[in-house]
Amino acid sequence: MQPEIDLDEEILRFQSNDPIERAATPPASWYTSSRFLDLEKNAVFRNQWLFVGRQDQLQQPGDYFSGTFLGWPYVVVLDDEGEPRAFYNICSHHGTCVASGEGTTEQLVCPYHGWTYDRQGKLTKAPLAGPLQSLRQRNLDLKPIELSQWGPLIALHFGNPSAPLETELAPLLDTFADHPFENVQFVRRVMYPIDCNWKVFVDNYLDGGYHVAHVHPGLTGQLDIASYRSTLGERWSLQSCPAASSPSSDASADFARRVGQHADYAWIYPNFMVNRYGPWMDTNTVIPLSVDRCLIVFDYFHEGAAETGFLEQSLIASDQVQQEDIEICHRVQAGLHSGVYQQGVYAPRCEAPMFHFHRLLHADFQV
Ligand code: FES
Ligand SMILES: [Fe+2]
Repeated sequence: MQPEIDLDEEILRFQSNDPIERAATPPASWYTSSRFLDLEKNAVFRNQWLFVGRQDQLQQPGDYFSGTFLGWPYVVVLDDEGEPRAFYNICSHHGTCVASGEGTTEQLVCPYHGWTYDRQGKLTKAPLAGPLQSLRQRNLDLKPIELSQWGPLIALHFGNPSAPLETELAPLLDTFADHPFENVQFVRRVMYPIDCNWKVFVDNYLDGGYHVAHVHPGLTGQLDIASYRSTLGERWSLQSCPAASSPSSDASADFARRVGQHADYAWIYPNFMVNRYGPWMDTNTVIPLSVDRCLIVFDYFHEGAAETGFLEQSLIASDQVQQEDIEICHRVQAGLHSGVYQQGVYAPRCEAPMFHFHRLLHADFQV
C-alpha cells in the first residue's frame, strides 16, 4: 500500500524559483508515488515528442515495428510510398492490439477476427461484419499518431505537437561539437531494465559529470572532468567534455579510442539522450514501466567501418559503464523509498542540467 499524498502539496514542495544554491530537490514522493506517474503520463509525456525507433528499421514498404509507451500501443509502418506512418496499434472492432514485434507485412491483420488494414491504416476487410462501405462511414481505420524524423531517429507525439521536432531541436544540433548523425550507421540495440523510477536514471545522467569519478573508474581517466561544461536549452541540455590530455591506459577495455577527442552528452526532455564520442553515437530512451521500474533502450551507431574486435571491446566497455549506473540507480531508489529521506540539495557547480529538468517537470505539472 502506498501512503496517500496530497499531489498539489507535493508538487509545491519543489520551489522552482529558488536559486540552485538554496534549492531543494523534488521530494521523494515524485519518485515513489504512482500518482506522479499518472500525472506525468498526461502532463509530460502526452505533450512531447517521444523517440521510439530508427529509420533503418523501415527499409521496404511494409516493414514495421510496434511497441507500447505507458499503455499507448503504437505501430510504425513504411507505407506504399516509402513514408513512415504511425498508428495506434488498436483494432477498431474490439480493441485488440493488431501487430506485434517487428517485421514486414502486406497488410495489418488483427489476430482476433481478421479485420485487415492496409499500410495506410485503412480498413480493407472485416469478415462477416457487413458491407465495407457502411463500415468505412463510421471511420474504423487505424487511428493515426503524429510522426517526425530527426536524423536517423523516429519520434511520435501522442498529443497535439506545438512545434515540429526539427524546429525544437535545431539549436541543440548547432550546439554539438560535430554533427552527431554524420555517417553513422546502426550497430546494435541493448536493453537494460532497471528497478528505479525513470527520473532517477535521468537525474544520474544530468549531474554534470559529478558522479563520473566515483562511479566510473574506467571512464574517468579518459575524460578531462575539470573541463566538463553544460549548456541549457529550452527543453534540452548538452554536457560536453574533452578527452584527457594523457589518458590512463586500460588496454582491456579500449576506453581511449572509444572516447576519442571529445564527448557530447545531449538530453532531450523528458526521456531521451544522444551521446557522441569518438567514432560512436548512442541513443538512450528511458521508458517508464511503473513508478519504480523503467527500461533503458540503448541504440549504438558507429561512424564508418571498424573492425569487429574494436566494436565488441567498445560495447563491453559501455556495458561496464551502464552496470555501474544501474547499481547506483538501485541504491538511490532504495533511499527514496525509505520514508526517511525527503528532499536533497544540488551541487551547484555541476547539477544545473538536473535542476533544469526538475523545473521543466514542475512547470508541466502545474499546467
Ligand atoms: S478485435 Fe480485431 S478483428 Fe475483432
Ligand atoms: Fe554514469
